[in-house]
Order: sequence, then C-alpha cells, then structure tokens
Amino acid sequence: MTIELILDGKRTALEILPGQNLLQALRGASRFSVKLGCETGDCGSCTVLLDGEPVNSCVVAAARAAGRSVTTLEGLLGDPLMQRLQRELVDKGAVQCGYCSPGMLISLYALLKQDEAPTDRDVREALSGNLCRCTGYVKPVEAALAVAATLGGAS
Ligand code: FES
Ligand code: FES
Repeated sequence: MTIELILDGKRTALEILPGQNLLQALRGASRFSVKLGCETGDCGSCTVLLDGEPVNSCVVAAARAAGRSVTTLEGLLGDPLMQRLQRELVDKGAVQCGYCSPGMLISLYALLKQDEAPTDRDVREALSGNLCRCTGYVKPVEAALAVAATLGGAS
C-alpha cells in the first residue's frame, strides 16, 4: 500500500508492506541514519521525530505515519542546531563506533528545540532511551550542555 506523509519536510508517497514498521519503511526510503538495533523499542538507535516528538521507529507501524510529519537525521543535516550538535559530539569525543549517534542526535535535538537551557538531569533523561555501548553518556551530556550554553538566537 502507499501512504502519504511529510518526510524530512517534503510531501512524499511511501510504499509500505502490510505490518511493516516505520524503521524498515524509512530505510527502504534511503534514510540510512535510522539504525536497526534491537527492533524492540529498547535501544533508541532508530529514533526519529514523529510530528516533532522523538519515537522509536521500530515500534511504530509504518501505516501510522500516514498524514503525519516524520523527520530523520537526513532531513536535519542543514539545520544549524543539528550541525552544532554534530560538531560538539565529535569535538567532545562522544562518537566512537557511531552506531548510536543518529538516534542520540535526534533525541538531543528534540530536547534543545523544546528547552534551550536544560539541566544535566534533563539531558540525561532525554538520552535515557538511547543506549551507547562504546562511549557512555558523560561526553554526550557535556556536548549537549555545551551547545545549550551557546543558544539564544542561534537556532
Ligand atoms: S531498533 Fe528501535 S529501539 Fe532499538
Ligand atoms: S558510540 Fe558506539 S554505541 Fe555509541
């Protein structure tokens, strides 16, 4: 079947299979930043924005995206806030294998869009659904707080 949605800011018709999850549908649409990890909603590597809210796309039926807005990292590559987050994660040494990074970036982006002055705890809560097996969380939290410290007219 075909669904219509706003994908990364563009009206898009997406072919989906019966029972397919949004993760697989997005990868089928070449959104390869959306990583397949656990596929049970536990690791956050498949995080995307659905109507602006971060969700684990592996536990969202693709059909549920019909008529809605889905944003992946590919759709935010030109966004100044996302670019800052990417640069800061790299500068802080928060990217090792990088498998978790797209999901983390989406979660941090969603947080900073809603709150330009998060606390350490707020950032940790925002990342609580994103598992990282290499780097841990100290450096990503530092990176997010460093970006937040520069906000206020930049994004
Ligand atoms: S692959 Fe979706 S939460 Fe792990
Ligand atoms: S950097 Fe490897 S899982 Fe996070």
